[in-house]
Amino acid sequence: MKATWFCTASLGEGCRLFAVLLLVCQWSAEAAGITDQKTSAVGSSVLLIAPDSIKDVNYIQWEYIHGSSTHFIVQYYKDSSAPTIYEHFAGRVDFISSNGSLLLKELQEADSGIYKATVNLIESDARKTILTVIKPLSEPQVWCNSSLAGFPIKIVCDVQEGKVDMFSWEKEGGPLPPERCYQLSKNRSVLHIMKGEKSDCGSYSCNVSNEISWNETSLNLTIIGVSSSLEHAQTMSGVALVFALVAVLGFTMLLCQSAKRRIKGETWRWLFVFIHGLVCLSCVLLFVAMVIWMHNEGPSPAFILLELFLLYAIIITILVMGTLALKPAKLSGFKTKIWHRVILDSAAPGAMIAVVLFACLLLQKIHQLHERGCSQPADLTGSTVISAVTALLGLLFLFIWYHKTQVPKREAECPAREQVQELRERTQEQHCPTSTFQYKSLGFQQKSTTSFLILCPGCQKKQRAVETKQL
Ligand SMILES: *[C@@H]1O[C@H](CO)[C@@H](O)[C@H](O)[C@H]1NC(C)=O
Ligand SMILES: *[C@@H]1O[C@H](CO)[C@@H](O)[C@H](O)[C@H]1NC(C)=O
Ligand SMILES: *[C@@H]1O[C@H](CO)[C@@H](O)[C@H](O)[C@H]1NC(C)=O
Ligand SMILES: *[C@@H]1O[C@H](CO)[C@@H](O)[C@H](O)[C@H]1NC(C)=O
Ligand SMILES: *[C@@H]1O[C@H](CO)[C@@H](O)[C@H](O)[C@H]1NC(C)=O
Ligand SMILES: *[C@@H]1O[C@H](CO)[C@@H](O)[C@H](O)[C@H]1NC(C)=O
Repeated sequence: MKATWFCTASLGEGCRLFAVLLLVCQWSAEAAGITDQKTSAVGSSVLLIAPDSIKDVNYIQWEYIHGSSTHFIVQYYKDSSAPTIYEHFAGRVDFISSNGSLLLKELQEADSGIYKATVNLIESDARKTILTVIKPLSEPQVWCNSSLAGFPIKIVCDVQEGKVDMFSWEKEGGPLPPERCYQLSKNRSVLHIMKGEKSDCGSYSCNVSNEISWNETSLNLTIIGVSSSLEHAQTMSGVALVFALVAVLGFTMLLCQSAKRRIKGETWRWLFVFIHGLVCLSCVLLFVAMVIWMHNEGPSPAFILLELFLLYAIIITILVMGTLALKPAKLSGFKTKIWHRVILDSAAPGAMIAVVLFACLLLQKIHQLHERGCSQPADLTGSTVISAVTALLGLLFLFIWYHKTQVPKREAECPAREQVQELRERTQEQHCPTSTFQYKSLGFQQKSTTSFLILCPGCQKKQRAVETKQL
């Protein structure tokens, strides 16, 4: 028979479909009485009803048909006092002898199937109930694949347990705002936002339901205006700005010293190395921040030019730093030509100004992007305070070092008695009053040789004096 073949073929499909088809088959075989359909949740109870068309009830039997197997559940003779309850459902059924109803308790998914009640063995009046036991819906999971402003966003509602008949969405406890053209997938499980905006921020709830249960979860969507890479660029610009400002401070302090207490020698050298290091670091940070910015927002000619200048400043500052730290004497060698001197002397101040200006510009542009979303702007306090404290401590350390070592050392650097005598003789040739000599160390100490300036306040010119040996 065609119908029977259909049933066998569909055995692999779900229980429910199978049961329906089985019913169709059986109908075609033997036109039966009333058929009910019920769906219940796992763990609940269901009341199955016996045929009520027969007046004089003598015998009732309940059977459970699952696939091709049939089990007796209850047999009840009106004359006998108690119904016979079979093993298969023992402990989980209550038979109500007054009207023949059957109460099934603690339902399991495996209890799905056909329940057939027959009165007085009249097959044509048998009453069947197709019972489907399904799990109640668990809490759905709602997640979004992105939350970046200006990009498409999808919000997905997923249920682990149970079959969903309907998905419904709400925003902030009300219907989805019609002006925002949200799109729902065919089965409504996915909500598409074409282009994320500030107005899309808020709580989206997904209500899943089926015949027996519903459940709901919500997602707080926070549209972010700035991607995490741009947030890093923001931090880098902030730190670059701080370093550049501390370098400006260092330079200013060097420039504004009184001639008398001018920092010289070793401290001067390391202070210069330190300030050039700060400038170099701030250039590198701003360089990387600009690269990230252009990668996200597209290149612009002004920024490309700035990148080239930063690269140039990085190379020059590294050169100056390396030479000063390792071979300070070589530096004057570089400065023989005027344009060499211009390049070396202008790179660091130029870079400081450029970093300060463009770091501010970049920070402001990133801040503008933040406004597209509703997330909290990144907090730069921590990184800027830490970098400022580190850089200032470096500067402070150098100044303390200067006061601890260089000031007494300067006295020690004064020429020995005999040398003084020699110097005096020489300068007397140049008609300088002997009583007012001052000896001043000149620049770097090379091994044990030091050059001195003889300053004589009476003279107009500062006289360059001897290269003294062996202090
Ligand atoms: C049968 O009796 C039970 C218990 O009294 C009752 O809950 C149920 O509704 C009755 N069934 C019908 C079909 O009347
Ligand atoms: C939703 O599902 C969870 C289990 O995932 C359950 O604890 C909760 O009671 C359900 N809520 C409703 C309204 O059914
Ligand atoms: C999120 O899903 C949308 C729609 O499928 C897609 O266009 C977009 O590229 C996805 N975003 C991410 C970051 O994967
Ligand atoms: C809803 O449709 C999507 C594809 O559009 C599919 O991935 C998902 O499994 C479906 N969910 C349900 C519960 O049918
Ligand atoms: C979820 O949907 C079901 C079925 O449509 C409904 O009965 C229930 O009240 C809804 N829940 C909420 C919180 O709106
Ligand atoms: C969403 O945000 C509200 C307040 O803004 C909060 O009460 C709620 O718990 C949040 N929900 C989730 C799922 O984070």
